[in-house]
Amino acid sequence: MDYFHFVDNQLYCEEVPLTHIAKAVGTPFYCYSEKTLQRHVSVFQEAFSSISHLICYSVKANSNLAVLDALVKQGAGFDIVSVGELERVKRVGCPPERVVYSGVGKGRDEIRAALAFGLLMFNVESRGELLRLNKIAGEMGKKAPVAIRVNPDVDPQTHPYISTGMRANKFGIAHDQALSLYQEAAGMKHLQVVGMDCHIGSQLTSLAPFVDALKRILALEKELRDAGIKLKYMDLGGGLGIPYEEEQTAPHPDHYAGALMAELVGRDITLILEPGRAIAGNAGVLVTAVEYVKEGEDKRFIITDAGMNDLMRPALYQAYHSVLPVVRRFGREESVADVVGPICESGDYFARDRLLPEFQEGELMAIRSAGAYGFVMSSNYNSRPRVPEVMVRGGQFAVVRRRETIAQLMENESLFA
Ligand code: LLP
Repeated sequence: MDYFHFVDNQLYCEEVPLTHIAKAVGTPFYCYSEKTLQRHVSVFQEAFSSISHLICYSVKANSNLAVLDALVKQGAGFDIVSVGELERVKRVGCPPERVVYSGVGKGRDEIRAALAFGLLMFNVESRGELLRLNKIAGEMGKKAPVAIRVNPDVDPQTHPYISTGMRANKFGIAHDQALSLYQEAAGMKHLQVVGMDCHIGSQLTSLAPFVDALKRILALEKELRDAGIKLKYMDLGGGLGIPYEEEQTAPHPDHYAGALMAELVGRDITLILEPGRAIAGNAGVLVTAVEYVKEGEDKRFIITDAGMNDLMRPALYQAYHSVLPVVRRFGREESVADVVGPICESGDYFARDRLLPEFQEGELMAIRSAGAYGFVMSSNYNSRPRVPEVMVRGGQFAVVRRRETIAQLMENESLFA
């Protein structure tokens, strides 16, 4: 559930009409609802309240400091994948024992920075990483807490680019190799084996793959126990999907929790989850203005001032985002249209062959479900400054990242004089 809703035919974020924000900051802009972000965390926390758990929001989904600040205040921890994300979670004062560090390619400096911070655990993805971590921890006089990311070889039935837990993916350690690698890790002087991790993919809309993956890693955990290796944490990653289309459904966190907890009853282990999209996705919209409406031979093209550089999910994954007028008027004619951006690529679109109401030049449009993997994946392609991010809290709003300027785009460049 989110706090974007119509009042008197105007789309509001919480108690602020999006038209007010557009007047103040111009278009396009991202707008986030603080209450929605916090509610999503608390829904997860309540769903798992009967077992020991930690919700580590996946920072990559939306790393704006104001977003992280809202979440940390709600008691969330974080899943990070780079030293940049580490600096962000430090900036919002997250305690180290609420941070896990994932990713296949952790660099030496990144490992050093994370060890100095002292986080909960490193989710290790290869033997090379274990060796590197052991060496650096030794140099620093520390013991690194580790979990091994196991690839359970489960098909998450999602888009191939965001599917990560199958044999063919680059992620994790094959299930069959995991036991011997754990034994090797347990023998390394500067490592402390504390957990097991797995993440099978993103935007999963059915629970069965999660349950299959959990069963597989729990079986492995039992083998480890028999071999004398006792774990404290079981990290099941992120991946819970959200409804992007009106008629689409995604499992409620309560059902997700019910299915997972059924496998965990009676086990003395803390469950860690790394939701990203389920927390931030429907907590944000991208607001854009219509520049032109072009009547093509077969259909209309609604040309907006936002482009694929601002929200690249449709271009990259053929992702569906619902689009709607910010000010609703009844009795408009509807017809098939494409919503496209100003960029010189045919992939620059937000909606294709969609039955949409008439739009006029200058009119505002909201692109929904843009709170996760929206701004963070934006770029300056076509020398377009990145758009501002706005956070709403009740009846107030604040610009939490200013619009970039053209001068900033060229700031780090120079002529080869
Ligand atoms: N944990 C790990 C190790 C991950 O790799 C990811 C996402 C998550 C947690 C969070 O997954 P979520 O709960 O958000 O599904 N850019 C793509 C999504 C890429 C996901 C990458 N990993 C998109 O726009 O759909």
